[in-house]
Amino acid sequence: MGNKKNIILDDIPIKINEIFNYYSKNNINILECSLNKIFEKKNILFVENGRTALSKSLKLVDLNINDEVIIPGYTCVAVKKAIEKVCTPKYVDINSFDFNINPDEIHKKITLKTKAIIVIHTYGKAADMSAIQDIAKENNLVLIEDLAQGIGGKCNSKNLGSFGDFTILSFSLHKDITSLSGGALISNYPIPKRYEAKSANQSLKIFYKLLIAKRNEFLRKRNKKYLIYNLKQYNERFLIKEQNKKIYDDMSEKNYITDYMAYLLNQQLKNLDKRIQQRRKNAKFYIEHLKSELTENQNFNDHTFYRFTIQVRDRQKIISNGLKQGIQFGKMYDYCLKSLPNSRKASETNLNIPVHWKLNEFDLRRVTNFINKNVK
Ligand SMILES: Cc1ncc(COP(=O)(O)O)c(C=O)c1O
Repeated sequence: MGNKKNIILDDIPIKINEIFNYYSKNNINILECSLNKIFEKKNILFVENGRTALSKSLKLVDLNINDEVIIPGYTCVAVKKAIEKVCTPKYVDINSFDFNINPDEIHKKITLKTKAIIVIHTYGKAADMSAIQDIAKENNLVLIEDLAQGIGGKCNSKNLGSFGDFTILSFSLHKDITSLSGGALISNYPIPKRYEAKSANQSLKIFYKLLIAKRNEFLRKRNKKYLIYNLKQYNERFLIKEQNKKIYDDMSEKNYITDYMAYLLNQQLKNLDKRIQQRRKNAKFYIEHLKSELTENQNFNDHTFYRFTIQVRDRQKIISNGLKQGIQFGKMYDYCLKSLPNSRKASETNLNIPVHWKLNEFDLRRVTNFINKNVK
C-alpha cells in the first residue's frame, strides 16, 4: 500500500506520523551512524545552529581571545561572529577561480599566536585540502572544516569533512540538508553530550513551519510567481530571520535534536547525491551555453554546486531585471570580512545563478539567454 499521501516541500518529506515518536531515538541513531561514516569521525554533538558548532569547536581546544584563527576574507558573517566569541580571526585572501581560501596566502599570515585554520568549502566547491592539511600539520594547527555549504562534496575522492579535526554542519532552511534549525559538531576529539527527553514542542513547531512553507510554495506556483532559484531560499523569508541568530554560549552537553528533526535529515541525506548529480548537470549546461568568458572549467566530480557563481559588473541591475522576468539571482555575499583584492572583487561582482536540482532544460535556457543578453 505505502504512504502515497506524503507531503513534500522541495526535497523535504513532511511526514506527520514521525512527529509522534517523542521519546524514540531511532532516527537520531541512524543519523549519527550515517554522519560517522561519511566523515570518518566517531563523536557528534547536535547544536542549535552551525555558528554555535563553530564556536564550540574552538572552545573545545581551549582557545582564548589572544589566539589567532585563519579564515577566508570572503565568507558568511556568522563565521566571523562565532570566532570572535572565542578568539581572534586572521583573514586570508581567496582564489579568484574558486572563491576558496588561497593556501599560498595562509603561510604569510601564520604567527606564533596562530592556533587553527578554518576552511570553508564556499558554494560547495572543494578547497585544496591536501595543501591546507600540509600547512596545518607543519605548523601544528587545528584544522576545522566548515561544511555548511559543502556537504556531499569531495576532494581527491575523499569526502569533504573527513580531512579536518572538526567538521561543522548547519541544518538551517537553505542548506542542503535541513531540519529548519540545528547544526552539528563532528570530531574524533571527545565531545561531551547528554540527551534531552523533551522533543514534542520542537518537533511540532518544525512541522507547523514546514506546512506554512508548503502552503506558500503552492500559492506562489498558483499565482505564477514562481521564482526559479531555490525554493528553500525563498521560503526562508517567510520563516526565520537569519540575521543576528544567536550563538549559544553554554558548554552544557545538551544534544539539540529531536527524533523528528533527525527523520527529516535522514530522508534528505538519502537523496543528497541524486540532487547533487542533477545540479552538476545544470552546472555543465551553463558552462557549455553561457558566454565562455563568464565561466571557468569545473571539477564536476568534486563540487556540489550548492551555488553556481559568475562575476558580473552590473550586478544590481541584473538582479532587478531578472526578478521582473521571474528569475531570482543571489548575491552571496555582497560584503567581505576583510578588504583583500580577490575577496573584495567577489563581494562586488559575484552573482549566484539558479542551479536548483528541480530546474529543467527550459528553465536553464531561459536563464542562459537572459544572462548572455544582459551581461556585458
Ligand atoms: C559557511 C557558513 N558557515 C556557517 C554558517 C552558520 O550556520 P547557521 O546559520 O546554522 O548558524 C553559515 C550560514 O549561514 C555558512 O554559510
